[in-house]
Amino acid sequence: MSSIRCIPATSLRTGMYLHKIGGSWLSHPFLRNSFLVADPEDVRRILEAGIDSVWIDEAKGDALQDVEAVGDAPYPDQAGAVVDFPELPAVPQPSGGARDALRKPGVTPLAAEIERARGICLAGKSQIRELFGELRLGNTVSQQSVLPLVEEIQASVWRNPAALISVARLKTHDDYSYLHSVAVSALMLALARQLGLDAEQARLAGIGGLMHDLGKAFMPLDVLNKPGKLTDEEFEIMKTHAAAGAQALREGGAEAGVVDIALSHHERMDGRGYPHALKEPDISLLARMGAVCDVYDAVTSIRPYKRPWDPAAAMREMARWDGHFDRRIFNAFVKSVGIYPLGALVRLASEHLAVVVEPGVESLLKPRVRVFYSLRSREKILVRTLDLAEPGCSDSIVGPENPEQWGFANLEALWL
Ligand SMILES: [Fe+2]
Repeated sequence: MSSIRCIPATSLRTGMYLHKIGGSWLSHPFLRNSFLVADPEDVRRILEAGIDSVWIDEAKGDALQDVEAVGDAPYPDQAGAVVDFPELPAVPQPSGGARDALRKPGVTPLAAEIERARGICLAGKSQIRELFGELRLGNTVSQQSVLPLVEEIQASVWRNPAALISVARLKTHDDYSYLHSVAVSALMLALARQLGLDAEQARLAGIGGLMHDLGKAFMPLDVLNKPGKLTDEEFEIMKTHAAAGAQALREGGAEAGVVDIALSHHERMDGRGYPHALKEPDISLLARMGAVCDVYDAVTSIRPYKRPWDPAAAMREMARWDGHFDRRIFNAFVKSVGIYPLGALVRLASEHLAVVVEPGVESLLKPRVRVFYSLRSREKILVRTLDLAEPGCSDSIVGPENPEQWGFANLEALWL
């Protein structure tokens, strides 16, 4: 007899394993369809979303004891929907250890952290906008003023790094400079943790990430906001933002590490960067970290003159750039963000396209994905979540895909 049964959502309790939520992924508030319900908040959100029934797997979690199940049929795919997925192998039950890990305090579910990340981005955006305003008025800015924001960013990254990093990647033309600062700060903090830096260094990385581009406040607005590629002359002007930002930070009494990130985040290991064309031994650890984080967020964001790169494609491209980054730091960066970061579009061996909804934990090559498109039938299919790290999963990622080439708009809806 199947261990999967349909119950009223009002009967859902923590400790049960949620196998499937009724309704489409668009109408429910969770990134994943299947998970161990460890947080009463999850139950509340299901009820608030107006979901009236759910399927639970009693082999993987607590059984229903106090109410009658509304259905006892094996888990169906949604009625009437055409699903052209290959038969998926049975998923083995998680061990006691795996279930404990899900319950581990301090690991916040991605969906919950995304909500908080949105708030941090909003607050961060307006604070950076204010800093730009102060500098344009000729006032000084202090690193002390951003400390509470950096602490919030750090706390979010510690709870679940993928959330803030991914939410801050989604920018509009108008808020690019401000949100870029928040994104680089989050990436720096995640990277600092991956590199095992101490709290003091991590703090400098977070502050420096947030303030690294303040020099752009001094750039002529027509160059800064130009909706096209810069001319050589304009690019020369833009290059001065690094030294201008460092000078402004010095005047505001910022610490040397923070000033250095602003000054040297465009330096390259091969000496072909700016403003001082420093060579490898002369570029500090924090500046090397800044270079990687700055480029990743810049290429994966919407810019006035180009479409964003897919996050996984960006990782692949950046890995090919010779002489630009410190290799050891870049490798740590990939580990901290993922080879297939949240939101990346990927092609699966089963001839489907999917979007990464949770980076792989044990293997960077095996994230949790949401499958939504069949390459055989060339059409969208019923969305299904697949954990490529499950021992019984026979599917795998072939490589990243370019969303623009496929004409997919709003892929964010699959993970946001
Ligand atoms: Fe910059």
